[in-house]
Amino acid sequence: MTIKALFPTLIHTAKLAEKDWPTFNRQLLLECQQLARDDVAGQRWSSKNYPGGYTSYNSVCRMQQFSPTFAKLERKLNRHVANYVRALGLDLDERPLAMTDCWVNIMPRQVVHSLHLHPLSTISGTYYVQAPKGCSAIKFEDPRLDRFMAAPPRRIDCKAEQRPWFVVPAEAGKLVLFESWLRHEVPPNQSKTDRISISFNYNWF
Ligand code: NI
Repeated sequence: MTIKALFPTLIHTAKLAEKDWPTFNRQLLLECQQLARDDVAGQRWSSKNYPGGYTSYNSVCRMQQFSPTFAKLERKLNRHVANYVRALGLDLDERPLAMTDCWVNIMPRQVVHSLHLHPLSTISGTYYVQAPKGCSAIKFEDPRLDRFMAAPPRRIDCKAEQRPWFVVPAEAGKLVLFESWLRHEVPPNQSKTDRISISFNYNWF
């Protein structure tokens, strides 16, 4: 008997494990907090679209072009993205895959980021700058859910990859990569301390 697992959905997680990581991450944290204080357009946009939180998604969304620290993060991420692309078996030789957007998200207690995907991009991901104990994880949804209509529920003891959702805990210094079409959300932050992350998109031009 042969049973094959077909059409896999790959999620890549890794840590920025370099020696200088604590210093580098501290600098990122300071810049994220500074941006949240200075970015009036982003504060205005967030108050309507990201209640209780701050995101520079609609205001300063190319941080890698403005800050040498974020540019350094981009270079570090590029290596991980290259590994992920290899694992996915994507043939991207004809055109470059490059970071197009990179923005800051600050989620105080109870702030949520509802289900969404990242249109107009190829690979997306998040790097966690500050992830206090008890803060929310990122939750991915099975992309086939809309076809499950009359499907029976999964056994409670089924494998993690057989469940209709998969959770990746947030942890400072960790990055997670996924294909941009994969729907995900961040449930309400239960920690009293801000959950701070940097999200990014890579596009195949
Ligand atoms: Ni997202």
